Amino acid sequence: MRAALLRWYRRHRREMPWRNLVSPYRTWISEIMLQQTTVAAVTPKFEAFLAHFPDIRSLARARETEVLKHWAGLGYYARARNLRRAAQKIVAEHGGAFPSDFDMVMDLPGIGRYTAGAILSIAFQKPYPVVDGNVIRVYSRLFALRGRAKDPKFVETVWSKAGELMPKRNPGDWNQALMDLGATVCTPESPACDRCPVSRYCAAKKLGLQDELPMPEPSRTATDVRWRMLWLRRGGEILLWKRSARERLLKNMWGLPEYGSVPATAGAKISEASHSITHHALRVELFEGVLTPGKKLPSEAKWVKSGRAKNLLVSSLWRKLLPAIS
Ligand code: ADE
Repeated sequence: MRAALLRWYRRHRREMPWRNLVSPYRTWISEIMLQQTTVAAVTPKFEAFLAHFPDIRSLARARETEVLKHWAGLGYYARARNLRRAAQKIVAEHGGAFPSDFDMVMDLPGIGRYTAGAILSIAFQKPYPVVDGNVIRVYSRLFALRGRAKDPKFVETVWSKAGELMPKRNPGDWNQALMDLGATVCTPESPACDRCPVSRYCAAKKLGLQDELPMPEPSRTATDVRWRMLWLRRGGEILLWKRSARERLLKNMWGLPEYGSVPATAGAKISEASHSITHHALRVELFEGVLTPGKKLPSEAKWVKSGRAKNLLVSSLWRKLLPAIS
């Protein structure tokens, strides 16, 4: 079964920029980008990010705003902050060389066992398993394991199965073969068993359960959120708003002030946009704002030169709302 899957991977693996040239640094960056973002969205951003931060030291030296700017559009911005903090830790504690010991890798900010397993198997050829949604689906079908893909107990079962099955040779190819099989053949809907290199070993296929496993999740609908934002200008400056850590969305990020948060009235509507962020469907309207004279601004509000404001407003939401600043 292993030989069949590895042979298939060598012939059919998906081309991705981080697969052509492998190093611990490139594998790390790509795996962090891929944590919550699709391959299609990461592909055009990956080389551009590496061109700005070609190695661990350049990332460790960079300002946080600079890193966020080059993360723009990828979402989940805590990942970019952790990347920089991890680079600083690697410089301080490992002389700038990416560690190859599992526990040391796990000690880096932003890295859990999935990412540690991916880096160690792909860049260091160590036999650590990697379990994501694709891998859960593939194993649940191969061995007819009954469970819901997001049930933590079921996920644990798959991790131990994945650990038992890890080959000593080519562990990185093995892990990526499972991911690719899940992404292109063993898909959530209508799996292409006729193209599957391991269908003859598949317990779900034998039982006719390939369309039933893994068991479906209870459906989850997005929460509607409406924001009314203000566009306030003073000469060449724009009024920005530093969002707190307690916000539901875009925590700790620079944004625009919300109507009602600064002493201002709203004038004409400039634009509106829809944007989704983790189970929230945002509907955002932007209005021309007029500050009420003589009132003090809250400390979260800050006048920023428009060129710099562009670097601080990194979420794609702002680009949708303000095509002119992109
Ligand atoms: N998703 C996360 N890591 C990946 C990888 N190395 N190849 C393909 N998809 C992935």
